[in-house]
Amino acid sequence: MVLAPHPNPDAPVLSHFKLDGKTALVTGGCRGIGLEVARGLCEAGAKVAITYSSTPPQEANEIAASISAANGGRLVKAYKCNVRSQADVESVVNAVVAEVGDGRLDILVANAGIAENIPALEYPEDNFRSMFDVNVNGAFWTAQAAARVFERQYKAAEGEPHRASIIFTASVSATLVNIPQKQAAYNASKAALVHLGKSLAVEWVDFARVNNVSPGFIITEMLDVHPYEWRSQWNEMVPGRRFCYPSELKGAYVFLASDASSYMTGADLIIDGGYTLP
Ligand SMILES: NC(=O)c1ccc[n+]([C@@H]2O[C@H](COP(=O)([O-])OP(=O)(O)OC[C@H]3O[C@@H](n4cnc5c(N)ncnc54)[C@H](OP(=O)(O)O)[C@@H]3O)[C@@H](O)[C@H]2O)c1
Repeated sequence: MVLAPHPNPDAPVLSHFKLDGKTALVTGGCRGIGLEVARGLCEAGAKVAITYSSTPPQEANEIAASISAANGGRLVKAYKCNVRSQADVESVVNAVVAEVGDGRLDILVANAGIAENIPALEYPEDNFRSMFDVNVNGAFWTAQAAARVFERQYKAAEGEPHRASIIFTASVSATLVNIPQKQAAYNASKAALVHLGKSLAVEWVDFARVNNVSPGFIITEMLDVHPYEWRSQWNEMVPGRRFCYPSELKGAYVFLASDASSYMTGADLIIDGGYTLP
C-alpha cells in the first residue's frame, strides 16, 4: 500500500484541518500541553479521551466536562492511565474505542512525560529507568495499543486508504543539550522518542502517519521544577525572547492530526521560538 492520499486536496484549505467525526486520545490530557492539545482537537471537531495519572478523578472529570461544554456537548471523557504499564494502556485504549469512538479510533497523542534534574555521575538506577519508563516505554505502549486498532480498521476497510495519526510530544531536548540544568536522562529519552517516531512512521505507513512535536520552553508545571532564576538565562538563549503558552501549540497538533498534513510522516516539528537555531 501507499501512504493514504488526501481525500480531497482541492477543497478550500480550512476544511483540511477539520476533525469532524474523528476520535482522539491524548495521554496526560488534564494539564499543561496535553490539556491544550485536547481542547484544540475538540475545537476542530473530534471526540476526545484524555488520560490522567496523579490528577484527582473528580478534577479530571470536571476538565473533560468543561471542554465538552465549550464545544457544544461533544463527547469528552477522562480515563485514569499509568503509561508505565502496557496492560493499563491497552485496556484504556480499548475502553476509549468502545466508549468514545463507537468502535473506532483515529488520533493518538502520546504526550505524557516527566522531567528531572540529576547530575549524570549521581543518577540513581531507579530514577534513570523511571525516566525511560514514562517518556519512551510509555509512549511506545500507547502508540502500540492504538496502532493495533488502526491496523484492524485498515484490514476491515479491505484496501481503502486508512487515515490515522499518531503524534509524540518529544522536545527540543532531543536535538540540543539544555543548560544549566543537568538532565542527561531526559534529553536521551526525548532523542530516543524522536527516533522511535521515525521508525514507526516507516513500519506503520499502511495505516498511520507518525510525527513528533518538539516544543521549546512551554509555560507548564514542568518548568516549575527548575529554580526560577534560570528563566532569565533561558530567555536570553531563545531568539524569540519569550516562552510559549501551551495553547500556542494546539494548532500544530490539529495540523498533524488532520488531512492538512496528509503527506507528512516521520517529521520532527520543532516549535521553539528559534531556540535550536543559533
Ligand atoms: N513544558 C515544556 O517546556 C516542555 C518542553 C518540551 C517538551 N515537553 C513535553 O511535553 C509533555 C507534556 O508536558 P507538560 O509541559 O505539559 O508538563 P506537565 O504539566 O508536567 O504534564 C505532564 C503530564 O504527563 C502526565 N504523566 C506523568 N507521568 C505519567 C504516567 N506515569 N502515566 C500517565 N501520565 C503521566 C501527567 O498527568 P497527571 O498530571 O495526571 O499526573 C501530566 O498530564 C511531556 O512529554 C514533556 O516532556 C514539555
